[in-house]
Amino acid sequence: MDCIEALKTRRAVRAYTGEPVSREVIEDIIDCGRLAASAINIQPWEFVVVTEKEMLRAIARATDYGSFIALAAVCVVVLSKDTKYYLEDGCNASQNILVAARAHGLGACWVAGDKKAYAGKIRQLVGAPEGYKLISLLAIGHPAEDPHKDKRPLAEVLHWERF
Ligand SMILES: Cc1cc2nc3c(=O)[nH]c(=O)nc-3n(C[C@H](O)[C@H](O)[C@H](O)COP(=O)(O)O)c2cc1C
Repeated sequence: MDCIEALKTRRAVRAYTGEPVSREVIEDIIDCGRLAASAINIQPWEFVVVTEKEMLRAIARATDYGSFIALAAVCVVVLSKDTKYYLEDGCNASQNILVAARAHGLGACWVAGDKKAYAGKIRQLVGAPEGYKLISLLAIGHPAEDPHKDKRPLAEVLHWERF
């Protein structure tokens, strides 16, 4: 799948078949996160790949809208060092990971991290050191649904030269 197709067809997928995802594919997906743009190329991110069932369940339980993480093959816990642009940088890496998952034929969904009361609990579960922010929890697996989402049309959001 080419990049434009992956970008345009990516949707939040919250149901998975239970089939595992190979280590090679996971590493390639994380590599796409690693290569994201960041302010002054500071690359403040760290990626914790969780595949153990008990840990997936514990992460899912800690969230408010992420119960499906328990049934994902993988949860990528995206952390970012507390720099000026930690959130922009961390979100950028997260989006790269979602699109890379799609390009590999996988389904993925972002579960909120930053600003959530459970962020501390997740940091503790994965053993993150002090000074790191939780950006996102990215559930990934072989898709068991093909959801549709209404999107605002291009003509409504695109403004040439002036708003
Ligand atoms: C910052 C952010 C936080 C999100 N948090 C959650 C979440 O906690 N639980 C969830 O099920 N989906 C979450 N999502 C997924 C959105 O609901 C989803 O991306 C949105 O409905 C648009 O659908 P699409 O991804 O299929 O385009 C989050 C997405 C973003 C970008």
